[in-house]
Amino acid sequence: MALSEDGSHDDYLFKIVLLGDSGVGKSNLLARFARNEFYSNSKSTIGVEFQTQKMEVNGREIKAQIWDTAGQERFRAVTSAYYRGAVGALVVYDVSRRQTFDSVGRWLNELHTHCDMNVITILVGNKSDLKDAREVSTAEGKSLAETRSLFFMETSALDSSNVNAAFLTIVTEIYSILSKKVMQSQELKKDPSIGSKKTVVLDPKQDANNEEKKEEAPKKSWCCSS
Ligand code: GTP
Ligand code: MG
Repeated sequence: MALSEDGSHDDYLFKIVLLGDSGVGKSNLLARFARNEFYSNSKSTIGVEFQTQKMEVNGREIKAQIWDTAGQERFRAVTSAYYRGAVGALVVYDVSRRQTFDSVGRWLNELHTHCDMNVITILVGNKSDLKDAREVSTAEGKSLAETRSLFFMETSALDSSNVNAAFLTIVTEIYSILSKKVMQSQELKKDPSIGSKKTVVLDPKQDANNEEKKEEAPKKSWCCSS
């Protein structure tokens, strides 16, 4: 989907992917956010599911299309299709299972293999309600997020805390970066010494410079095409 040069496009759709080990609560975060539901006995996700949720940012309606797949390798769908076109990611771990925190680096590697480094990413420590079972402190989560330049939030899909905030943070940040790109393209347009036909696109398939990569996972989350 392209934004017009005056930034007046009315329909924004951001694809956001959920990542993290099996059982960290990805599907329940999505269920809480999209439907205000929680399943205390949910089964592992098989294949891919997604939900589209309307949100308002800076007075504009934005559709967040959130994709969810299994943390477990054998239940995962074709990976490149999952990541294709993603502009945001939530990398989730379970604060009560250190092993899931130790896997964060692996999930970030996978994300960056399939997407541009610029994909807006938030590190999410879920199950903050499990106070007595906590194995990963808030300080450790924050510190990892700082080292890897990620946003950070602790959530609970069970008691709802910070769930909306986590999704809102990522959507707001994507929107803000996109707006800056639109403004930059307007500046370029004003300067006659620079090419005048700049359009900011959200869909990497529209990247004219990326033709040889058509069949692969796109390397850019968004881009400018002449
Ligand atoms: P896969 O689909 O296998 O990758 O797992 P998932 O990350 O989607 O986990 P899922 O949402 O299915 O949750 C796994 C289990 O954790 C379920 O029994 C949930 O009820 C539980 N759970 C999820 N979120 C929370 C939470 O915030 N607090 C608590 N206490 N339990 C949670
Ligand atoms: Mg799941």
